[in-house]
Amino acid sequence: MAGAVDGDQQYDRMKMLKAFDQTEAGVKGLIDSGLTKIPKIFVRPSEELAQDQLTYTNIQVQVPVIDLSGILGANGRKKIVDQVRIASETWGFFQVVNHGIPPTVLDGMIDGIRKFNEMDVEEKRRYYTRDNTKRVRYSSNYDLFTSKTANWRDTINFSFPDQIDSEELPASCRDSTMEYSNHVKILGKTLLELLSEALELSPDHLYNMECSKGHRITCHYYPACPEPQLTLGITKHSDLGFLTILLQNQISGLQVLYQNQWVNIEPIPGGLVVNIGDLLQLVSNGRFISNKHRVIANSIGPRISVACFFNGPGGKDKTYGPIKELISEENPAKYRDVPLIEYLMGFLKTGLDDENRRIDFYKL
Ligand code: OGA
Ligand code: NI
Repeated sequence: MAGAVDGDQQYDRMKMLKAFDQTEAGVKGLIDSGLTKIPKIFVRPSEELAQDQLTYTNIQVQVPVIDLSGILGANGRKKIVDQVRIASETWGFFQVVNHGIPPTVLDGMIDGIRKFNEMDVEEKRRYYTRDNTKRVRYSSNYDLFTSKTANWRDTINFSFPDQIDSEELPASCRDSTMEYSNHVKILGKTLLELLSEALELSPDHLYNMECSKGHRITCHYYPACPEPQLTLGITKHSDLGFLTILLQNQISGLQVLYQNQWVNIEPIPGGLVVNIGDLLQLVSNGRFISNKHRVIANSIGPRISVACFFNGPGGKDKTYGPIKELISEENPAKYRDVPLIEYLMGFLKTGLDDENRRIDFYKL
């Protein structure tokens, strides 16, 4: 990407990326230095900015909000399953309320991430790495060197295999993350049950396929941006795994692409956003959709979000294909089988902005 063309001008992009990365202070570091114009590496190409004007936001439609409080009663559950089915087939997104995770746990998680990001650079630097084998990783833009444009955000990632030693986590967010992790894992199982039922499968079908085995908690910190119209918090993408549960603070920015328009997903106090990932689209044989979404930059901040990704048992040599019960002569398999390790590794090689959706590669 060195010397990428930006309008008529050439500039040494690689050099700027390296210099930014070497600060190990992220976007937060730029803001703290008092900068009033965003560096060029974050500026979206002008064609892309022009294209954006065409996809405006229609405030008339809203991502479905599903109240899980009736989940234990037969009637209530049926209604919830129907709502989950419709949302997953049309939007690929919904919000849940009364999901069982106490507000104190949600607030604690957000606070911990704020504290971590607002520590001295020297302390945060201990965690700054691009080594994907590390279970705790802090960096700005995991795809800094592979994407066309850098995004206005910093991220700390926690990979949860079966066991993680809590001492590996920074003290500022250790207890809150461990607690949230325990809760979100349970909610993930509940959602997989509802999604299985929505596909007319037995409730434990997706869980038994190990869709929620091992999860990753990715915490984004989006500082206020002096020129929000020129950049993005996170590029348009779909999530690669089975399911994502997202906690956000009360600052908006998340948008989903619906009927070719960007629709805001406004934060609901105590609510969580749920979305279908590419692998669930594949195993449901295209019934559930993994939808494109992004985060716009904002002049106020910080926006903080915590995404929990259920990407399957990453370390295992396992293959996923369309669920047998969902295919028939009239409704043949739309995808071939995916070797999980190969698939997840492929993701690391491309930027989030890569238009060739990785799941499309497996389309029949
Ligand atoms: C993601 C994502 C949205 C957000 O991490 O994949 O889409 O609100 N995050 O941070
Ligand atoms: Ni996403």
